[in-house]
Amino acid sequence: MSISPTSDVDLSPIPDAQGVILAAGKGTRMVSDEPKVLHEVLGRPMIGRVVDTAFDAGLQRVIVVVGYGAEAVKSWLRDDLSENRLDRLHFVEQTDQLGTGHAVFQAADYFDDADAPDFTAVLSGDAPLMKADAFHDFVTSARQARRPFALMTASLADPAGYGRIVRDTAGDVDRIVEHADATPEQRQIDEVNAGFYVAETTFLRDELPELCSGGADNAQGEYYLTDLVERATREGGAFGWTIDTPEWTAGVNTRADLAEATAIARRHVNEAWMDRGVTFIDPTATTVETSVELERDVILHPDVELRGDTRIASGTVVERGNAIFDTTIAEDVHVKANCYLEDAAVGARTNLGPFAHLRPGADIGRECKVGNYVEVKKATLEDGVKAGHLTYIGDAHFAEKTNVGAGTITCNYDGETKHRTEVGREAFIGSNASLVAPVSVGDGAYIGAGSTITDDVPDRALAVARGRQRNIENWADAAGKTDGDDE
Ligand code: UD1
Ligand code: MG
Repeated sequence: MSISPTSDVDLSPIPDAQGVILAAGKGTRMVSDEPKVLHEVLGRPMIGRVVDTAFDAGLQRVIVVVGYGAEAVKSWLRDDLSENRLDRLHFVEQTDQLGTGHAVFQAADYFDDADAPDFTAVLSGDAPLMKADAFHDFVTSARQARRPFALMTASLADPAGYGRIVRDTAGDVDRIVEHADATPEQRQIDEVNAGFYVAETTFLRDELPELCSGGADNAQGEYYLTDLVERATREGGAFGWTIDTPEWTAGVNTRADLAEATAIARRHVNEAWMDRGVTFIDPTATTVETSVELERDVILHPDVELRGDTRIASGTVVERGNAIFDTTIAEDVHVKANCYLEDAAVGARTNLGPFAHLRPGADIGRECKVGNYVEVKKATLEDGVKAGHLTYIGDAHFAEKTNVGAGTITCNYDGETKHRTEVGREAFIGSNASLVAPVSVGDGAYIGAGSTITDDVPDRALAVARGRQRNIENWADAAGKTDGDDE
């Protein structure tokens, strides 16, 4: 079972709500050529996480406001999302980034079309940790509050950079003051605007044209979405919903924020796996992407990265310094320190490493040994094959229980094409053999150490292909050599 990126439960759909996701900003404070929302948190771009949250929470359709790097953001989403979600995903473009209010205004076509639902939620594309179930609760409560505008708030130990919530004497939200516009007293307020909102769709339709006209009167010269709070007070007031797990609201404006968000996400994922019986020697030092699946009694050492569609079965130990991508590892495997595994499969009770390199298409059987400085690419090693040291196996098939001596190389490339090497079962390849492909070695065959094998070797034969050793007696004397230690 995997840890879902945004929610561990199926949430009921919210048929009368749509979502607008703000993702047009350049993210100047990231100092990056990439659009901010494509930066990754635990292996998934922020925009992917926020879109997941919106759909997982049950919103009917989602409109993404793109601008800076629009094509890159759109094509990432088109490649990633399921067809069902893509059918309900729309893009609008904000050519000039004139503020969050102006960004939502770009979605105006979706505020009074035939399918426009009664409520519109707004999510920030740079707040990547929001859990779908918390967001679902927020949207549900906001609908029941019967106010034109609702916002999610959070109390933070370090509120710097966020908009502060100013409440009136009755405790209602009066307005949001941006950090840049706040007085020193207002900067003391620790309740912040989390960047998630729910509005009556007609309220957005009616108020945004006015909010975005004339000059913007604030420190950043932008049309702030947050100014809708004051407008809502004329129609019953804004509803403030406070989340009890403030760390899910973390917004990312800088690389430091990105590292902090990643640390929070990592902790959540690792804690969830510990609850399911996975040992982390140091959970702060091991990265498990949300797409990974683990079984109980897996043991993960520090400096291990498990990425993409990696699956690890019970009892497997992964020692320090392993980078593992899209790889399936069966039970009770021992992955010693410092291996790099990519798009490979490993059978039960096999020993890998230290310093083994499995490249795409490496398919290692049960009870094998792939030792230090062994590289395997597009090759199958059947059960019980042992390649202990300094070997390259590419485009090959080695049948059961064959022993591969140190320094064995499959010479698979002639400068133009790749060729295959076929080795039978229980064969014995002596050290430092070169198998020049295409070539086959039969069942139970032996290859003498140092041989360069260019012809097929029959079953149970011994092939020796190397210059014969010749000893020339007293050669040194005849050549007038002095003893090594004489000057
Ligand atoms: C915003 C809020 C702040 C809140 C914080 C929470 C405003 C004015 N301020 O501040 O109260 O505490 O989020 O994280 O809304 N964007 C556009 N087009 C624009 C401007 C922004 O699409 O013209 C997008 C950005 O890409 C980003 C999101 O809106 O994804 C938020 O914008 P950002 O500039 O990061 O606002 P903050 O300063 O974080
Ligand atoms: Mg922000």
